[in-house]
Amino acid sequence: MTDLAAPGIPSISTDWAYARECDEADPLACYRERFLLPEEGLIYLDGNSLGPLMHATREVVEELTVRQWGEELIESWNAHWWDLPVQLGDLVAPLVGASPGEVVMADSTSVNLYKLAHGALKLRQGRTRVVSDTLNFPTDLYILQGILKEAGPQYELVLAGSRDGIHPDLEELEALITEETALVVLSAVLFKSGYFYDMAAVTEMAHRKGALVLWDLSHATGAVPLALDAAGADLAVGCTYKYLNGGPGSPAFLYVRKDLQPQLESPLQGWFGERNPFRFGLAYAPAESIRKYLAGTPPILSMAAVKPGVKILLEAGMTRIREKSLRQGEYLIYLAGELLSPLGFSVASPTDPARRGSHIALRHPEVFRICQALIHPLNGEEAKGEELRKNPGPGEHSGHPSDENGFQSPGISHPEGNSGWGVNNEIDPVVPGSLERMGKKVRVIPDFRAPDNIRLAITPLYTTWSNLLTAVQRMREIAERREYLRFSPMQKPVT
Ligand SMILES: Cc1ncc(COP(=O)(O)O)c(C=O)c1O
Repeated sequence: MTDLAAPGIPSISTDWAYARECDEADPLACYRERFLLPEEGLIYLDGNSLGPLMHATREVVEELTVRQWGEELIESWNAHWWDLPVQLGDLVAPLVGASPGEVVMADSTSVNLYKLAHGALKLRQGRTRVVSDTLNFPTDLYILQGILKEAGPQYELVLAGSRDGIHPDLEELEALITEETALVVLSAVLFKSGYFYDMAAVTEMAHRKGALVLWDLSHATGAVPLALDAAGADLAVGCTYKYLNGGPGSPAFLYVRKDLQPQLESPLQGWFGERNPFRFGLAYAPAESIRKYLAGTPPILSMAAVKPGVKILLEAGMTRIREKSLRQGEYLIYLAGELLSPLGFSVASPTDPARRGSHIALRHPEVFRICQALIHPLNGEEAKGEELRKNPGPGEHSGHPSDENGFQSPGISHPEGNSGWGVNNEIDPVVPGSLERMGKKVRVIPDFRAPDNIRLAITPLYTTWSNLLTAVQRMREIAERREYLRFSPMQKPVT
């Protein structure tokens, strides 16, 4: 294990002292208070699904609704709203390594993918293959399948596989990109394992065969530094509700390299992409800028709410964010190895930090129910009663890996000792009554991805080192005590 300790910080360890010292030395610690994290005792590790609300976002929404909409009414279109999609695109541009005028905010990731993939196939007419991988986010594949169904039976979507469900098979990917290939569509950071493609290398590989590349940056933007222009990228899309903290259903963005814009057409020729929409001409002429990829009226309320989340990332700087994310990723993998692997967990993210985004996936056969137990802990008497019912006493073997391995807890102390929140000071495996001493339990929100992944997002603007240690301790406790047994294996619609 590489020791990524900052100067003056002791070697990486499972001790609370280590987590505490890392938190105290954290140069990004000041950003946490800008978020409205709901309750003491809640550890939010799902910022790669839905980023939390920022205080500044509430102010933006208030300004937009009460003043701009409430007082200025339709005049706000000229004063504030007409240019918002392009202004916000320009704001996002440095996060993805693009130039002004190459990014615009619009629609959803799925719709933007449709527009750009459709345009790309027209640009490469005569080529009938689209290449992606089996680890890609399903909506991307669904959208491509729809486009190809429309385009005709000569078109095919081919997918590079994976040997381990973590890394794409790069040799297969290269072999699939042929002179027939019009377009390669990949997620820069894969949604389950967090694998991070070498975007410049893959772009170069596709360009050698004359194909265009469309990157889905949903799990990459705000998570890793990106360099679309430097990588020679052609097209990209991405969402804003994950690491950009834009809020549920916030609009997505799209990128088209400057020199491709005059040629690449959008199939959705709506009036917001028209050159002079308020002349109400009957024949469509596209805007001569990135605006041409807009279609209908933008969702101004949710679009404006994206700004604070982008600004805070720019202010903190992606270099510092990446530095902390890498250190915390190594820490989490270390903790998982020390504290969770004896209980049947394994790491399902790349071990090479350069090839990893900003979340760590773990596997365990019972991970869905473990997630439920993390999100809905039992407290006090409730826990005691449940514990006695489920686990009548030590020596009763359940067939769980911890029993088989004879794993004994090393006994970890809690940082704040008597704070009343958090895990118990001494973790006694499956000892009835020990939960009685615990007081109120910490809630941890990660997310579950079928069939057996738990994703732990590292969002350096608000994730602390103590958060990560507490979350891992809770996972160990749940697995040891088999707390997950009180949950149904039936899954809910979202997470
Ligand atoms: C990689 C990726 N692409 C696309 C989407 C879906 O985007 P949307 O629902 O905004 O169209 C998601 C959603 O989580 C995603 O993770």
